[in-house]
Amino acid sequence: MPHAAVPRPAFPSRTTAAVAARATDLSKVYGQGETQVVALDAVSVDFRQAQFTAIMGPSGSGKSTLMHCMAGLDAISGGSARIGDVELTGLKDKKLTQLRRDKIGFIFQAFNLLPTLTALENITLPMDIAGRRVDQEWVGRVVETVGLSGRLSHRPAQLSGGQQQRVAVARALAAQPEIIFADEPTGNLDSRSGAEVLGFLRESVRAMDQTVVMVTHDPVAAAYADRVVFLADGRIVDELAEPTADSVLDRMRRFETAGRTS
Ligand SMILES: Nc1ncnc2c1ncn2[C@@H]1O[C@H](COP(=O)(O)OP(=O)(O)OP(=O)(O)O)[C@@H](O)[C@H]1O
Ligand SMILES: [Mg+2]
Repeated sequence: MPHAAVPRPAFPSRTTAAVAARATDLSKVYGQGETQVVALDAVSVDFRQAQFTAIMGPSGSGKSTLMHCMAGLDAISGGSARIGDVELTGLKDKKLTQLRRDKIGFIFQAFNLLPTLTALENITLPMDIAGRRVDQEWVGRVVETVGLSGRLSHRPAQLSGGQQQRVAVARALAAQPEIIFADEPTGNLDSRSGAEVLGFLRESVRAMDQTVVMVTHDPVAAAYADRVVFLADGRIVDELAEPTADSVLDRMRRFETAGRTS
């Protein structure tokens, strides 16, 4: 399609940008009776398009549960979870699978690469499975941006941890999902590889209008985001815009103090 003459619309303003995903009074309860755990307690949050959000909070506060519920990997107990305009609850299995495949990228802490496939085959696998045409130009751009151009024919065992995670990031981006959820994507990486992956995620938001939601424990990692949402006991307890490592750390310290005195 010849579209070179049509100028791309300007960046959506960060205040009016469309909502890529939205939780409204989202609840998630595991188990029953005595063993019941309220993992999410009426969480309401918007993830706007072309925004990079970090999710932080103590272990067990519900971060992974929130990501899984929003990505349609886990059923919710109450409220609503939407991707774009689509309500996840009530979707038939087939439609949910399609939505996950076409609109959502998920980066797991353990890269989940297939060992027998090369880096490039891993990156295009979701599209190959879906029978979707691979947009070579886009994949080329993604591969170049993550700095994997010289490693495409390597298998995961021949790549460093940072390179493997970059393959996982490229795989999530290659299919051009509406939103990427990343659950501690740098948890297993040394600081240099971690910085590469974070820099790339941020770049994908700036340059490609990607929407990214990332769980992290690390204030330095959170500082790559546009905004930090803090969870505690399954609730959103605070939010921080334009975070720096210092401002995040400061906020975390305040929670600890509040927790001790209550
Ligand atoms: N499948 C499950 N069955 C029962 N309880 C669960 C299940 N998954 C999570 N939980 C509970 O729900 C709560 C939230 O767990 P979640 O994994 O979302 O925490 P998290 O914030 O991601 O923690 P971490 O930082 O340790 O990864 C915890 O109390 C946990 O024990
Ligand atoms: Mg978790």
